[in-house]
Amino acid sequence: MDKNFWKNKKILITGIDGFVGSNLAKKLIQNGANVSGIIQKNKKSLLYFEGIYKKCKLYIGDINDNKFIKKIIKKNKFQILFHLAAQVEVGVANKDPFKTWESNIRGTYVLLNNFVNNKYIKSIIVASSDKSYGEYSKKFLPYKETYLSRAIYPYDVSKACADMISRSYASDLFRLPIIITRFANIYGPGQLNFSALIPDLINSIIKNKKFLPRGNGKDLRDYVYIDDIVEVYLLLSIKLYKNKKLSGEIFNAGMNKPMRVREVVKKIYCYANKEKEYLEILRRMKNKKTKGELNYQSMDFTKLNRYFGWKPKNKFENTIENVFKWYQKYLSSI
Ligand SMILES: NC(=O)c1ccc[n+]([C@@H]2O[C@H](COP(=O)([O-])OP(=O)(O)OC[C@H]3O[C@@H](n4cnc5c(N)ncnc54)[C@H](O)[C@@H]3O)[C@@H](O)[C@H]2O)c1
Repeated sequence: MDKNFWKNKKILITGIDGFVGSNLAKKLIQNGANVSGIIQKNKKSLLYFEGIYKKCKLYIGDINDNKFIKKIIKKNKFQILFHLAAQVEVGVANKDPFKTWESNIRGTYVLLNNFVNNKYIKSIIVASSDKSYGEYSKKFLPYKETYLSRAIYPYDVSKACADMISRSYASDLFRLPIIITRFANIYGPGQLNFSALIPDLINSIIKNKKFLPRGNGKDLRDYVYIDDIVEVYLLLSIKLYKNKKLSGEIFNAGMNKPMRVREVVKKIYCYANKEKEYLEILRRMKNKKTKGELNYQSMDFTKLNRYFGWKPKNKFENTIENVFKWYQKYLSSI
């Protein structure tokens, strides 16, 4: 990849204090980019834990705040935008859809609308999600970019709406240079959403807490490592910057190797030498049923591979040790 490309490029990342945002900012700064971000005072995140925040310009506020967003964009000559900010907790969205829809839907059009007719912006990557597809039955796995959205649950709907709104801003009416990404579940250092499976499992092991399964463990999920995702973000952003014709394209990424939730539990508990506890969790999973969550998801990355030769490099088994150690270090520091 063209590393020199990033030198002094003016970049804005929304949700820079989140899991993906912090990791992306770290990589961009390493490559010499001039990084700004919008934050919501999330002081416990990787951005602070690793001191990344000292090397970027941060604006504290809400992406729903039109005046705030307008001012930031007017003041800077951003060439590249990564829109990652979102309320990402499925459980929170199920309980309180309003707040999630405000951030994830309104937040997206407030942001994008402020870039219309901006002469500096050359590349916008919007984080949609595998959840924007809603539910397809097992025989349709892996999900392809051509599948229409069947989203009905609040978080899924919020991502599907943001996805469509972004495509509208990429249309011939507004001509914003936008690529939309629909990635599988991302995991790795810096993920602090402890309602997500992997952080929840590791946290339970480290703190010697009972892991409370949400379902029977038979759901299929696709897990892709954060370093692979950061690589896709950089790749897509450069490609779009250099070729505006890619605007409006959608790209999936994942491993296309779904695992059952119970398989993930097993791999992590066995890594920590806790086979007995794993069997106990299996017993607790019996007759449990998730509500408001999708059962089968895995992402087909053929399009990314066909266009740019991308495929994931990190196998789940090879990353567990690194991820586990990161949480040990992080959790002992807070
Ligand atoms: N982590 C995953 O598995 C995954 C998978 C597919 C897609 N995504 C998408 O990637 C993006 C980043 O996810 P993440 O895992 O880093 O989540 P995260 O929760 O770690 O980060 C999201 C950030 O957005 C910020 N935010 C939320 N609402 C905001 C608002 N109204 N104004 C300003 N900031 C706001 C939060 O403070 C947080 O720092 C999200 O859009 C998510 O939907 C994530």
